Amino acid sequence: MKPYFESDTVTLFHADCRDQLLDLPSQSVDLLLSDPPYGMAFEGKGEHSAPIRADGARQGVRVLRQALTAAGPALKLDAHAFLFCHWASWPDFYDAVAAHLRLKGALVWWKDRGGSGDCAGSFAPDYEVVLHASGAKRRSLAGKRQGAVLAGFPPVPAQQRTHPTEKPVSLLAHLVAKSCPEGGTVLDPFAGTGATLVAAVQLGRRAVGIELEERYCEAAARRLEQTLREGPGLAA
Ligand SMILES: C[S@@+](CC[C@H](N)C(=O)[O-])C[C@H]1O[C@@H](n2cnc3c(N)ncnc32)[C@H](O)[C@@H]1O
Repeated sequence: MKPYFESDTVTLFHADCRDQLLDLPSQSVDLLLSDPPYGMAFEGKGEHSAPIRADGARQGVRVLRQALTAAGPALKLDAHAFLFCHWASWPDFYDAVAAHLRLKGALVWWKDRGGSGDCAGSFAPDYEVVLHASGAKRRSLAGKRQGAVLAGFPPVPAQQRTHPTEKPVSLLAHLVAKSCPEGGTVLDPFAGTGATLVAAVQLGRRAVGIELEERYCEAAARRLEQTLREGPGLAA
């Protein structure tokens, strides 16, 4: 399929990842970094509120399983993987990932701010779980060993978001720097508006993204054009 956006280092497909992943070159990906549909029927608030495709309670994990099956041949044997998930869906996500990769642990992205729900009767949902896994062959992470709590990466303010579940580029860049070798390739099969791809470009890595919704591809392409104009470096 013809890419929706393409440069020397980054390619974005407007497609269903379960199809498009099958066409990726064998053992070409060093890092799978993605924020799949949570399986929580998530709907944001405000201007960019919209249901996430394939986010129904059972559908989310089914799509993830199918995507991991399709992605398998494209992953290098020593690839690392990070997959965001909601606390209520992580057991299903854990099983889905464990069927394909070696789970190495779970990280907690501490957002340092609350959320809605039963404010008086529950703790604030101020974190997200990120499953960390790798392929059969061991590869070290870059730099000094760090704790599993990812703090200091504030969420994108609602009024600045281009996607209802947009992740901060700084957080994704941190994970790319730790786990994708220089010159390596990052894959995000649920790319949304391209935060993972932007992080990869900022760090001089190669990146491949796939997104089902054209309006998000359009927003991702705009962000990528701007990032490529600015050149590598952690600008935003
Ligand atoms: C949780 S969002 C990712 C948001 C992203 N982290 C960002 O910062 O923009 C999941 C995305 O996966 C997309 N999606 C759902 N099913 C898909 C599929 N089968 N293939 C490709 N993309 C899909 C949705 O349209 C949605 O944009």
